[in-house]
Amino acid sequence: MRPYEVIKAKRDGHVLSQDTIRAFLDGYVKGDVADYQMAAMTMAIFFRGLSAPELAAWTRAMLESGEVLDLSDTPGVKVDKHSTGGVGDKVSLSLAPLAAACGVPVPMISGRGLGHTGGTLDKLEAIPGFRVDLSIDDYRGLVRDVGACLIGQTATLAPADKKLYALRDVTATVDCIPLIASSIMSKKLAEGIDALVLDVKVGSGAFMKTEADARTLARTMIDIGTQMGKRVVALLTDMDQPLGRTVGNALEVREAVEMLRGDAPADYTGLTLALTAEMLVLGKKAGSLDEARTQLQRAITSGAAETKLKQIVTAQGGDASAVADLSKLPKARTTVPIVADQDGFVTGIDSESIGLAAMALGAGRARSSDRIDPAVGFVLERKVGQAVSRGSTLVTAHVNDETQLADVIARVQRAYRIGSAAPAPRPLLVARLD
Ligand code: URA
Repeated sequence: MRPYEVIKAKRDGHVLSQDTIRAFLDGYVKGDVADYQMAAMTMAIFFRGLSAPELAAWTRAMLESGEVLDLSDTPGVKVDKHSTGGVGDKVSLSLAPLAAACGVPVPMISGRGLGHTGGTLDKLEAIPGFRVDLSIDDYRGLVRDVGACLIGQTATLAPADKKLYALRDVTATVDCIPLIASSIMSKKLAEGIDALVLDVKVGSGAFMKTEADARTLARTMIDIGTQMGKRVVALLTDMDQPLGRTVGNALEVREAVEMLRGDAPADYTGLTLALTAEMLVLGKKAGSLDEARTQLQRAITSGAAETKLKQIVTAQGGDASAVADLSKLPKARTTVPIVADQDGFVTGIDSESIGLAAMALGAGRARSSDRIDPAVGFVLERKVGQAVSRGSTLVTAHVNDETQLADVIARVQRAYRIGSAAPAPRPLLVARLD
C-alpha cells in the first residue's frame, strides 16, 4: 500500500494489518514516508484510535526501529519504573538505590525536564561530576556490577519514537492515549527490562486530568507489556500538588537523600515505598507487598540504601561525598520568602504553575537547548491542608538571578489556593492495576 492509501484507510476507520503498520513506520524512519504524511496518520489515529492488535504492531515496530538491549548477563529479574511526569517528582532518585539495595537490578533510561515538569537526568547532574551519557556497554556493566544505572536516551533506542514525538509535539497529537502508550512502552521495552512498574499521575498537574483517562492509559500500557511477555503493574497516583517539599534539581537530590535516611515528607516517602515494594515483588525478592516494605525499611535504617546511592554516584563519575555531606551540593546565592496574603488553609497548589515558576527561576528549560541552574528552586513550607496566616512563608525560593523574581513570586502566590477551611485529605494512591 502507498502511504496515501494507508492514511486514507485509517482515516476511514479501517483496521490496518501488522505488515502495513510495520512498513509505514519503517518507511517513516528511513524518510520514505514524509513528516506531513505521518502527521496526517497520527491525526487519523487521534480520531479513530488503534485496535489492540494494531497498537501491538505499532509499538513493536517502534521498539524494533532500533536496538533492543539484552541484559541477560545480569542475573535476576530486571525491573524499572516509569512515571508519566510530575512536579517535584524525585522518586527515581531514591527508588533505584532502594530497589538495588534489596537485590533488584534496575536498568533505568530517563528523560530531561521540559516545560513545567523536571527530569531525572537534570536532577542527577546536580551531583558534581555525575554522568548520564554513558555508553550502552557501561550501562550494561553497571546494571550487572552495581545493581542500577541511570542514563539518558540514546540515538539507537527506539529512534522512531524520537522522530515521532518531535512531530506530535508540533501537530497537536501528543495527548492521544494509544500514541502515548506506544511511545512510553517502546522506550521502556528497549532498555532490557523483564518487568515494569508504572506511576500514572492523575490530577491538575498531570497529563491525565481524570481518573478515567489515567485508568485507560495504564490499562493500555499494561496490555502492551503483557503482549510482549513483560509483567507490568500500574499505580494511579494523585498529582494535585507537587510531591514532597522541594522543586528544583539540587534541592530534590537533597530531599531524596533525606528520604533514604528515613527523614522525608510522608507523601514522597509513601509513594517511593509503594512503587519500590511493587518492584521487589515483581523482581521476586519479596513474596508480598508487606514483606517488601519490611525489607525496604531495613535498607533505610541499616544505611544500605544510602550506601547503594553512593556506589551508583561513584560508578557514574559523581562525587559521592556530596551525598554524605549535602552542603557540597550546588547552593543558590540567596533565599527569598514568598508569603501568604491572607489567613486560612491551603486548599490547593497548582503544580503546573509551580513548575513554570521554577522554570522561570532557571530550574527548568523552555527549549531543549536551554541551560539549567542546578541550585535554584523552591522549598514548599506549606502543603495542602495546612494552616497559614497573612505574612507567613508559603515557599522559600532559592535564587541566583533576580531578573524574573517579581513574576516568580506572583506565580507562586497565584498557585496557592487559600480557603477558610481545610479540604478533606486526598489519598495519594488512587488505584492499583495489574
Ligand atoms: N512521554 C512519552 O515518552 N511519550 C509520550 O507520548 C508522552 C509522554
